Amino acid sequence: MNSDHGPGEVRLGRLRLWYPVVDSTMAIAAGLARIGAPHGTVIQADVQTAGRGRQGRAWVTTPGSALLTSWILRMPFPPGDIGALSPLIALGVVRAIRSLAPEAPVTLKWPNDVLIDDRKVAGILLASHGSGGERVVIAGIGLNLLTEAIPDGVAGAALAGWTADADADRLLDLLAVHLDDVLQSFLRSGTIDNAVRDEIDASLAWRGEPVTLITGTGSLEGVACGIDQDGSLLLHMSREGAVTSIRVGEIARGPRRV
Ligand code: BTN
Repeated sequence: MNSDHGPGEVRLGRLRLWYPVVDSTMAIAAGLARIGAPHGTVIQADVQTAGRGRQGRAWVTTPGSALLTSWILRMPFPPGDIGALSPLIALGVVRAIRSLAPEAPVTLKWPNDVLIDDRKVAGILLASHGSGGERVVIAGIGLNLLTEAIPDGVAGAALAGWTADADADRLLDLLAVHLDDVLQSFLRSGTIDNAVRDEIDASLAWRGEPVTLITGTGSLEGVACGIDQDGSLLLHMSREGAVTSIRVGEIARGPRRV
């Protein structure tokens, strides 16, 4: 395979590879990226035996009930922070879901979860490495199509509850279009441009409400105000009264004891 094609020339999802069973589409995508798979290649699987979630968690779904994909993105940036890509890719997923299920109350939970009715319908995992002037990002997206995808005891959502058209192929086409669109906007400016940022802010879960930010070292309470141009969360700190820009962590609704 050759890797001459940058994001400017090749649109996402032109090269699609489908596997019945893999350990993780992340591993397959990383291996293919190493041997030169072009920008936009998407790996899809029906079953993952070792699906990966964020922060070392497992991602478990019932066979055939979720859209499991990893996208190879070759970004013409030197190694550095890719924080902006998290909410951008989540926005691409939000747009794809809205175009299939316009009635679904879809929101983006910073940094990169997608919720319907406050329950997680899609999770995103980013892995990246740099070489030369290029940053190779593998964007893994797991999206629940059917309620069977949601493990017991987990308060998740599935697309099928909101559209009669929860079809994996259709959704894959829509994801390709919308992910491509948000990435092109990022490539033009190297940041999240104002229009896209406004759209993310308008889609942000619990915006204007108290949230708890959970980091590896503790937790903070504040009010989620929106995001910054680099993808950070703007949190109005309840105690200090100042707005702080947060680069890493996860949020939960309301004040919480963590
Ligand atoms: C999360 O923890 O929310 C992220 C979940 C990401 C799951 C997807 S499914 C397709 C791809 N392959 C994996 O092993 N993980 C991602």
